[in-house]
Amino acid sequence: MNLQELERIAARLVAEHKGLLAADESNSTIEKRFKGIGVTSSETTRRAYREMLFTTPGVEKFISGVILYDETLRQKTKEDVPFADYLGRRGMIPGIKVDKGTKPLAGSPTEKITEGLDGLQERLQEYYRLGARFAKWRAVIEVAAEIPTEYCLRANAQALARYAALCQEVGLVPIVEPEVLMDGAHTLERCADISSATLKIVFDELYTHRVALEGILLKPNMVISGMQCPRQADVAEVARETVAVLKRYVPAAVPGIAFLSGGQSAELATAHLNAMNALGHFPWKLSFSYGRALQAAALEAWRGREANWGAGQKAFSQRAHCNSSACAGAYTAQMEKVA
Ligand code: 13P
Repeated sequence: MNLQELERIAARLVAEHKGLLAADESNSTIEKRFKGIGVTSSETTRRAYREMLFTTPGVEKFISGVILYDETLRQKTKEDVPFADYLGRRGMIPGIKVDKGTKPLAGSPTEKITEGLDGLQERLQEYYRLGARFAKWRAVIEVAAEIPTEYCLRANAQALARYAALCQEVGLVPIVEPEVLMDGAHTLERCADISSATLKIVFDELYTHRVALEGILLKPNMVISGMQCPRQADVAEVARETVAVLKRYVPAAVPGIAFLSGGQSAELATAHLNAMNALGHFPWKLSFSYGRALQAAALEAWRGREANWGAGQKAFSQRAHCNSSACAGAYTAQMEKVA
């Protein structure tokens, strides 16, 4: 393992004022997103949409890296330049989602386990050859009356740690993503408890699997009220609780924490990140790795038409800019009005 190189890549991914674009929707997920705007999902439309995002003028000021899906890593721009090369030339590091999605967990089938470990080493080697320099694996933790079980947390943490160890061996920075879902009526306090238990087990397994924490990034959920919870915690509470949980359970050796947006509105995801960074300095960088919160407005503006590329890119650039400011605690609601 070349730890220095992993550290260098991780540091670039969470460089000042920068965060990640998660554009790694599987074909079934992007189909759902396209359906929302009346666009048929095909290899052609998926390629065109991703090209629109990646070629946004000036966006490299805000975006350090882009997480791609297998198909996208193999696609090219209209000028026949592989997306990975194109992004690299613009200073944005290409990454790759390597998990194969979730299945019901044997023995506790209302919970989920993430699959994709079989043959992973060979796939990682190929992704490296194709230009990827970091990877992502997402574990999904659902919250309800009797779940998550300790068994589910442990099984998912073991898979995450095994994936992370393999990535580091191949030279890819692993993004370790344990997502406690915001679906449900649970309170902020319960989200804090489950997020704490999750992170504790994840780091326990990372140690066991000899993963070098200096060469990973963590991609967690924020500590937030369940979507159906009658009392929604405000921005200040979410920021305070999220930071409190992270301080207790994320070692200072981890260079950066890049949040997922998880179904929050684009504006709220930005406001939460901003409020955390306004609280002061932390041992790790606090940044973003948003999918929906960076793309929703761009998708809506694009609607599958090449004539709307400019509008789509403007919408994406605006969100990237706002989140870049939020990395420094310098985002203001005024920035939304300018848009
Ligand atoms: P969201 O920001 O839409 O949650 O997506 C981030 C991601 O990469 C999920 O794995």
